[in-house]
Amino acid sequence: MDFACAIRKNETLKSGYFRVVFDAPGIAAKARGGQFVHIRIPAMRDRILRRPFSIGDADSASGALTVVYKVVGCGTEELSVLRPGDVCSIMGPLGNAYTPPGVDTFPILVAGGYGSAALYLVAKNSPKKGLLLMGARSREDLILADAFEQLGFEVRISTDDGSAGHRGFVTELLKDAVSGHSPEKCMVYGCGPTPMLLALGKQTLELGVEAELSLDQHMCCGVGACFACVVKIKDPSSPDGWRYSRSCKEGPVYNAREVYYG
Ligand code: FES
Repeated sequence: MDFACAIRKNETLKSGYFRVVFDAPGIAAKARGGQFVHIRIPAMRDRILRRPFSIGDADSASGALTVVYKVVGCGTEELSVLRPGDVCSIMGPLGNAYTPPGVDTFPILVAGGYGSAALYLVAKNSPKKGLLLMGARSREDLILADAFEQLGFEVRISTDDGSAGHRGFVTELLKDAVSGHSPEKCMVYGCGPTPMLLALGKQTLELGVEAELSLDQHMCCGVGACFACVVKIKDPSSPDGWRYSRSCKEGPVYNAREVYYG
C-alpha cells in the first residue's frame, strides 16, 4: 500500500491551486471516486508525517494518478515546488468510495472550494451526465469547471461575494437542481467544508434525495490507528444517539442518513 511514485508534472491551475500527476500504476489501477492518498513530501522537516489528498483522477491504462491541491501550509508549499522526476512515498488508495451512479441515476455533484477535485472520478464514470453545483468564496477560487463541462456535466456556480454565478451558498442551488427530476432517480454527491456538507445533508433528507458526503477531517495516520479524524455518526444503540467514526477508515464517504446533525 506504500509506493514510491515519481512526479510526471506539477502545474499551476490558477493562483494558489496546483495539479500534480504521479506515476502510480499500483494506486491508479484500484482508485475509486471519493478515496484519498496519504503522501509523504520529501522536503518537509517533519518527514514522518504524511498529508492526505483526495484522488482527483486515476487512469489505470497509463498509471497516472492526479491530485489537485491548494497551498494552505508548509506541506502543500513544499509539494508545489517539486518537479518532474521527484519521488514521493504515497499510501493508497485509502478510505471508502462514493457509490458509483447507476445507469438511471441523475448525479448532482455539490462542491465547496476545491472539493470538486474529489468528485471528478464520479462524473467521469457516470453513465448519465448530470449537474455540478460549485461554490466558492469568489471567482478566483473556482477551479475545474471546464473539466466537468468537457465530461458533459452542466456547471452552476455560486460565490460568497457574488463575483460569479449566484451570490450565496452553493446549497441554495440544490432545490432547483432537483426540480424536474424524480427525487428517487437523483443522487447527490457532496465534498467541501463540513458546515456546508451538514447543511447539504439535512437538505437532501428534507427533499427525499439520496446523498453521500465526504466528511474528511484532519488526519494523522490515515489508516484507522490514531483517532485524529473522527466524525459523529448516528448510533441508536448509544445513550447519546451517536458515536465517533474514523473518517480515514470507515469514511470519508458517509450516507447523509448516517450523519449525526446534533
Ligand atoms: Fe488516524 Fe484516522 S487519521 S485514525
